[in-house]
Amino acid sequence: MQNFTFHLPTKIIFGAGTLDQSGVEGIKLGRRALIVTGKRSAAAFGIIDRVTTYLEKEGVEAVVFDRIEPNPRTTTVDEAGELARENDCDFIVGLGGGSPMDAAKAIAVAALEAEPIWDFIPRGNLPVKTVKKALPIMEIPTLAATGSEADAGGVFTNWETHEKAVLFSPLLFPRVSIIDPELTVTVPVDYTIDGGVDIICHVIEGLFTGDDNTPIQDRFAMSVIKTVMDNLPLVIENAENIEARANISWASAVALSGMVNSGRGGSYPIHALEHAVSGYYDISHGRGLALLLPVIMEYSYKARPSKYALLAEELFDIHRDGQTDEQLAVKGIEEMKQFLASVDRLLTLKDVGVEDDFRFEAMADDTLRIYGVDGKFLDNPKRLYKEDILNLFKRLSA
Ligand code: NZQ
Ligand code: ZN
Repeated sequence: MQNFTFHLPTKIIFGAGTLDQSGVEGIKLGRRALIVTGKRSAAAFGIIDRVTTYLEKEGVEAVVFDRIEPNPRTTTVDEAGELARENDCDFIVGLGGGSPMDAAKAIAVAALEAEPIWDFIPRGNLPVKTVKKALPIMEIPTLAATGSEADAGGVFTNWETHEKAVLFSPLLFPRVSIIDPELTVTVPVDYTIDGGVDIICHVIEGLFTGDDNTPIQDRFAMSVIKTVMDNLPLVIENAENIEARANISWASAVALSGMVNSGRGGSYPIHALEHAVSGYYDISHGRGLALLLPVIMEYSYKARPSKYALLAEELFDIHRDGQTDEQLAVKGIEEMKQFLASVDRLLTLKDVGVEDDFRFEAMADDTLRIYGVDGKFLDNPKRLYKEDILNLFKRLSA
């Protein structure tokens, strides 16, 4: 195991009905909130009104910015930052899925900097401005997926160049996250499944790419994956199954909180490739990951069969019975594909609406330039050179 610092300064309030604490938590952060949310769901299901009422009850005024698109764009963040400045907002509330929650983090910076947020987002070796200050952030997830409620990162797209990249700073940890699984019952089944795949990838990537002797992390990862696999079918069958929703919401928060992955190093090659896919085609992040997960497992397992065999044995209960790691790995990959098929996520690019306009060359270049520099994201047991990345993208269109 590697040395590590585990630091999660976010206060997490979890459980059905806890949204009612947003006011008493809000007044601890400031007097005037900018509520940052998506274009439809939070208003349609009355969540903005509820949060505004809870805040006002405690004497907090609220201004609403409700134009965050899925895969948030840097230009939208800049607009919202200006609104926060104009209204003297002193804290930001991210209300929605990962897109509004991520946007809230960047807006907390943009509100104080008045410079394009894109300049603060690292892309490979390009010069980048350092985040030096940010307003306090409260996150209220309405979709269990990204883990933005318990990490210090956000992902943003420059739609002019189609680059999608990560903004990270310890200043972006939410001060408080209110995780009320009741808010997720209205999530359409497609996004519920995409969120589940995202959670799985947040911990499976570390399993495949991290250190060897990390039994706590590996079993913790397995527990997160199994929880998602067991509970997804329950919420697909009954969207209002709060117990199952709660299990998935907690899996989402735990996955990237540092609790699972600390100490095993590891990287996020599936995520690095996915960011190019959604950066160009604007598809749901979880669906992009579902496209890539089996393809990258098949590409990589021979370079590191032991971790794939562990997955087969511990997650899918496949008995060794004299089989080699490679033989077990193949069976584990088959099981994973069956799971994806069972939730309708064994996909090709055509299934997500991309039939032509393949821009794989540019996507491969972007991936290498943005994520290939220090290895933190793109390292893979079987190294990914440009030709390999191109071939993987081509397989998605097969
Ligand atoms: O936009 P609205 O109207 O809110 O509707 C959204 C959107 O259409 C809808 N939705 C959300 N909550 C709902 C709901 N619909 C009904 N009822 C509710 N309660 O769901 C759709 C997708 O929302 P979005 O926020 O885009 O999804 P997700 O949570 O998957 O977030 C994706 C973004 O997060 C980034 C992704 O790259 C992507 O940009 N990520 C952020 C990470 C992080 N902060 O650490 C890590 C992840 O790996 C990921 O990259
Ligand atoms: Zn993700």
